[in-house]
Amino acid sequence: MDESRAFFYGPSVDRRVSTEYPDRMTELTSQIHSRLTFAIISHPDAGKTTITEKLLLFGGAIHIAGAVKSGKGAKAAVSDFMKMEKERGISISTSVMGFEYGGRKINLLDTPGHADFSEDTYRGLSAVDSALMVIDSVKGVEERTRQLCVVCRMRSTPIATFVNKLDREGKDPVELLDEIERELAVEVRPVSWPVGQGKLFRGVYNLVDGKLYLFRAGQDQLPVDVVEIDGVNDPRLDEAVGASLARRLREDVEMLSGVYPPFDRADYLAGKATPVFFGSALNNFGVRELLDALVSIAPYPTPKEAEERQVAPEEAKFTGFVFKIHANMNPKHRDRIAFLRVVSGRFERNTLYYHVRSDRSFRAANPTAFMSQDREIIDEAWPGDIIGLHDTGAFKIGDTLTEGESVNFKGIPSFAPQIFRTIVNADPQKEKQYHKGLNQLAEEGVVQIFSKLHQPNARVIGVVGQLQLEVLQSRLENEYGAACRYEPIDLSIAHWITADDKKALRDFVDANSRRVLVDIRENFVFVSDSEWSLDRTRQNNPAIRFYSTSEMIDRRA
Ligand code: G4P
Repeated sequence: MDESRAFFYGPSVDRRVSTEYPDRMTELTSQIHSRLTFAIISHPDAGKTTITEKLLLFGGAIHIAGAVKSGKGAKAAVSDFMKMEKERGISISTSVMGFEYGGRKINLLDTPGHADFSEDTYRGLSAVDSALMVIDSVKGVEERTRQLCVVCRMRSTPIATFVNKLDREGKDPVELLDEIERELAVEVRPVSWPVGQGKLFRGVYNLVDGKLYLFRAGQDQLPVDVVEIDGVNDPRLDEAVGASLARRLREDVEMLSGVYPPFDRADYLAGKATPVFFGSALNNFGVRELLDALVSIAPYPTPKEAEERQVAPEEAKFTGFVFKIHANMNPKHRDRIAFLRVVSGRFERNTLYYHVRSDRSFRAANPTAFMSQDREIIDEAWPGDIIGLHDTGAFKIGDTLTEGESVNFKGIPSFAPQIFRTIVNADPQKEKQYHKGLNQLAEEGVVQIFSKLHQPNARVIGVVGQLQLEVLQSRLENEYGAACRYEPIDLSIAHWITADDKKALRDFVDANSRRVLVDIRENFVFVSDSEWSLDRTRQNNPAIRFYSTSEMIDRRA
């Protein structure tokens, strides 16, 4: 980053990356301090793909605009892997893009915008340390943003906000700030402020560095014109944007300073307040300033909660967890990749690690990093990094690798499905392919798969959104050459169940065997057809605890 353009956001981030390491711990600390792992959250169409593309351009990960999104309606290339995503023009799976900028190694997780793939997004959010929220200035806060914000708040994930599409006639910026505070229950701290909007959009005034960044419509180029002004009372402001907009800006700035406390990095890192930036991603306006700010303020890799204890990135011993499994990213090689987030210590290639769930060892011969489209083999990885492990079926989502300790990371839950179907093999000739595909896709988290207690061979599929069923069907066909058919089933509300008294649990399961399913991890799931019958069951069985995500189930139980 050009230091002269760097913002001052209070205590600055130490981005020095020394080349001489007296010992392993110094190297670890230095590597941690250079990592920035975040995801973009937004409602579809707010501009996530467009911003991603600009960020990658600045990071040198792509060289031409349009590489992320190739042509009208076809949102593909860099961030989307699957045929279906291209056909539908929505980003279904979470992918990872790595690039370097401003002395930090940035890992950007692309998360599906479509609500039917919430589970994938929620799991992706468990692997990042902060989020960038993109809001369409015309539409304001939308449903999907609201849902994702709830997840971030649950984990106190710091959120930075970019209000996009200022080149369009949108809502009043003050109204937008109110909406964000009211609807997302997070305090706002405007960092930049728009001068005009829509046809009258002239640029943004940076409230922190006191500079005016001028907008020229249709300019997808850098650098943006920056006018050095000495505060909003400087007459150069009038020259640059005209007397009327200058007056309005002066009034706005005075009002803002009375209403909002100055940006405080500690409040942002605690997830209490969100810095707000304004711009237009399509016109590449305000995005570089946003990125400069992020490398300055966004958190280093943070500690992660495990069932047993909290694990800090500075711990010398390596730990990491799998938050996503994806098959066939490259159709030429039928491989399967487990995405692992490094939580602590240094991960090394060709080293024996402990795979906690299976109580076995695991060695990665060809771990990969994700640098934009390319997957390159790496020798080591550090906290905050996301690496790809070649998987031959050893991994499930939520699995942990360590140097020997038994830890199970939290926050990688399965959510209670709302749609259930019995799945049937539609092509008996392809029995083997069908079972292989079904199991692998369930392990990837495409759908949840359950077996019935009283009919152990029957498979029930549970999904959060209808589209997941279509993805399963299409992937079984395209990738495994198998066919399936769904049959309706009279179940809609699922809860994972557990109890301190194991006999009580067993008795409950025996007494309700028609309504109990078993998930992929052999946990019991109680399903009912209505809230009313669920309530009655709960009242009659006080010893049993019911949970709507698998996160609360103690896997050791
Ligand atoms: P998403 O990934 O969040 O779904 O959003 P995406 O970036 O695909 O943007 C959605 C639409 O909004 C796109 O238009 C995109 O060009 C437009 N857009 C993004 N940023 C801005 C902006 O700053 N100003 C304006 N005016 N529009 C913006 P589209 O018509 O759906 O796609 P396309 O025909 O441009 O490819």
